[in-house]
Amino acid sequence: MKNPWETIPLDDYESHMKLDSVRQLQTMNRLMADQFYRYPVRIAMVLGVAGGNGLEHVDPERLKTVYGVDLNRDYLAACAARYPHLAETLRLVEADLTAAEPDLPPAELVIATCW
Ligand SMILES: C[S@@+](CC[C@H](N)C(=O)[O-])C[C@H]1O[C@@H](n2cnc3c(N)ncnc32)[C@H](O)[C@@H]1O
Repeated sequence: MKNPWETIPLDDYESHMKLDSVRQLQTMNRLMADQFYRYPVRIAMVLGVAGGNGLEHVDPERLKTVYGVDLNRDYLAACAARYPHLAETLRLVEADLTAAEPDLPPAELVIATCW
Protein backbone atom coordinates (compact mmCIF):
# COMPACT_ATOMS: atom_id res chain seq x y z
CA MET A 1 0.00 0.00 0.00
CA LYS A 2 1.22 3.49 -0.89
CA ASN A 3 2.22 5.69 2.05
CA PRO A 4 -0.29 8.61 2.11
CA TRP A 5 2.62 11.03 2.54
CA GLU A 6 3.60 10.32 -1.05
CA THR A 7 0.36 11.89 -2.27
CA ILE A 8 -0.05 15.00 -0.09
CA PRO A 9 0.98 18.17 -1.94
CA LEU A 10 3.57 20.10 0.10
CA ASP A 11 1.50 23.27 -0.08
CA ASP A 12 -1.54 21.49 1.42
CA TYR A 13 0.57 20.12 4.26
CA GLU A 14 2.31 23.41 5.07
CA SER A 15 -0.79 25.57 4.66
CA HIS A 16 -2.63 23.43 7.19
CA MET A 17 0.24 23.17 9.66
CA LYS A 18 0.87 26.89 9.82
CA LEU A 19 -2.76 27.91 10.39
CA ASP A 20 -3.12 30.06 13.49
CA SER A 21 -5.40 27.38 14.91
CA VAL A 22 -2.67 24.72 14.42
CA ARG A 23 0.76 26.42 14.55
CA GLN A 24 2.70 23.16 14.41
CA LEU A 25 5.00 24.40 11.65
CA GLN A 26 6.02 27.34 13.82
CA THR A 27 6.47 25.09 16.87
CA MET A 28 8.64 22.57 15.01
CA ASN A 29 10.64 25.44 13.55
CA ARG A 30 11.45 26.72 17.04
CA LEU A 31 12.34 23.23 18.27
CA MET A 32 14.74 22.70 15.38
CA ALA A 33 16.43 26.07 15.88
CA ASP A 34 17.20 24.92 19.42
CA GLN A 35 18.17 21.35 18.60
CA PHE A 36 20.69 22.12 15.87
CA TYR A 37 22.94 23.93 18.34
CA ARG A 38 22.12 22.31 21.66
CA TYR A 39 25.01 19.85 21.23
CA PRO A 40 28.45 20.40 19.70
CA VAL A 41 27.89 18.28 16.59
CA ARG A 42 29.01 18.79 13.00
CA ILE A 43 26.76 16.21 11.31
CA ALA A 44 23.01 16.26 11.89
CA MET A 45 20.10 14.42 10.33
CA VAL A 46 16.46 15.51 10.09
CA LEU A 47 13.97 12.66 9.72
CA GLY A 48 10.81 13.63 7.82
CA VAL A 49 12.35 16.88 6.59
CA ALA A 50 9.30 17.66 4.40
CA GLY A 51 9.84 21.03 2.65
CA GLY A 52 12.72 21.97 4.91
CA ASN A 53 10.92 23.83 7.67
CA GLY A 54 13.65 24.89 10.13
CA LEU A 55 16.57 24.51 7.74
CA GLU A 56 16.91 28.29 7.61
CA HIS A 57 18.61 27.91 11.01
CA VAL A 58 21.43 25.84 9.54
CA ASP A 59 24.70 27.73 9.70
CA PRO A 60 27.27 26.05 7.41
CA GLU A 61 30.03 27.50 9.60
CA ARG A 62 28.78 25.39 12.49
CA LEU A 63 27.26 22.37 10.78
CA LYS A 64 29.33 20.62 8.14
CA THR A 65 26.57 18.31 6.91
CA VAL A 66 22.84 18.14 7.48
CA TYR A 67 21.00 15.15 6.05
CA GLY A 68 17.34 15.69 5.24
CA VAL A 69 15.47 12.40 4.99
CA ASP A 70 12.02 11.91 3.51
CA LEU A 71 10.16 9.40 1.38
CA ASN A 72 8.46 12.09 -0.72
CA ARG A 73 10.85 13.10 -3.50
CA ASP A 74 8.80 16.20 -4.39
CA TYR A 75 9.34 17.45 -0.84
CA LEU A 76 13.07 16.85 -1.18
CA ALA A 77 13.11 18.75 -4.47
CA ALA A 78 11.40 21.67 -2.70
CA CYS A 79 14.10 21.59 0.00
CA ALA A 80 16.84 21.81 -2.61
CA ALA A 81 15.09 24.69 -4.38
CA ARG A 82 14.46 26.61 -1.15
CA TYR A 83 17.98 26.37 0.26
CA PRO A 84 20.42 26.76 -2.65
CA HIS A 85 22.93 28.43 -0.29
CA LEU A 86 23.12 25.12 1.61
CA ALA A 87 24.12 23.12 -1.48
CA GLU A 88 27.42 22.08 0.13
CA THR A 89 25.83 21.29 3.50
CA LEU A 90 22.40 19.84 2.86
CA ARG A 91 22.34 16.24 1.70
CA LEU A 92 18.88 15.03 0.76
CA VAL A 93 18.15 11.36 1.23
CA GLU A 94 15.10 9.63 -0.20
CA ALA A 95 14.31 6.77 2.16
CA ASP A 96 11.36 4.99 3.74
CA LEU A 97 11.99 4.91 7.47
CA THR A 98 9.64 1.97 7.89
CA ALA A 99 11.92 -0.22 5.76
CA ALA A 100 13.56 -3.03 7.69
CA GLU A 101 17.00 -1.52 7.18
CA PRO A 102 16.77 2.02 5.81
CA ASP A 103 20.01 2.99 4.15
CA LEU A 104 21.01 6.05 6.15
CA PRO A 105 24.40 7.68 6.53
CA PRO A 106 25.92 8.07 10.00
CA ALA A 107 25.15 11.28 11.90
CA GLU A 108 26.00 12.65 15.34
CA LEU A 109 22.54 14.07 15.96
CA VAL A 110 19.13 12.88 14.75
CA ILE A 111 16.23 15.32 14.85
CA ALA A 112 12.82 13.72 14.58
CA THR A 113 10.34 16.39 15.61
CA CYS A 114 7.62 14.59 13.68
CA TRP A 115 7.72 12.13 10.85
C1 LIG B 1 4.64 15.97 9.96
S1 LIG B 1 5.64 15.97 8.53
C2 LIG B 1 7.22 16.59 8.94
C3 LIG B 1 7.41 17.74 9.74
C4 LIG B 1 8.61 18.53 9.36
N1 LIG B 1 9.75 18.10 10.15
C5 LIG B 1 8.29 19.97 9.52
O1 LIG B 1 8.85 20.63 10.40
O2 LIG B 1 7.43 20.44 8.74
C6 LIG B 1 6.10 14.28 8.37
C7 LIG B 1 7.13 14.05 7.28
O3 LIG B 1 7.60 12.71 7.39
C8 LIG B 1 7.63 12.12 6.11
N2 LIG B 1 7.42 10.68 6.30
C9 LIG B 1 6.28 10.07 6.73
N3 LIG B 1 6.46 8.75 6.78
C10 LIG B 1 7.74 8.51 6.37
C11 LIG B 1 8.51 7.35 6.19
N4 LIG B 1 8.01 6.13 6.43
N5 LIG B 1 9.79 7.46 5.75
C12 LIG B 1 10.31 8.69 5.48
N6 LIG B 1 9.62 9.85 5.64
C13 LIG B 1 8.34 9.75 6.07
C14 LIG B 1 6.50 12.79 5.34
O4 LIG B 1 6.69 12.71 3.93
C15 LIG B 1 6.58 14.22 5.89
O5 LIG B 1 7.44 15.02 5.13
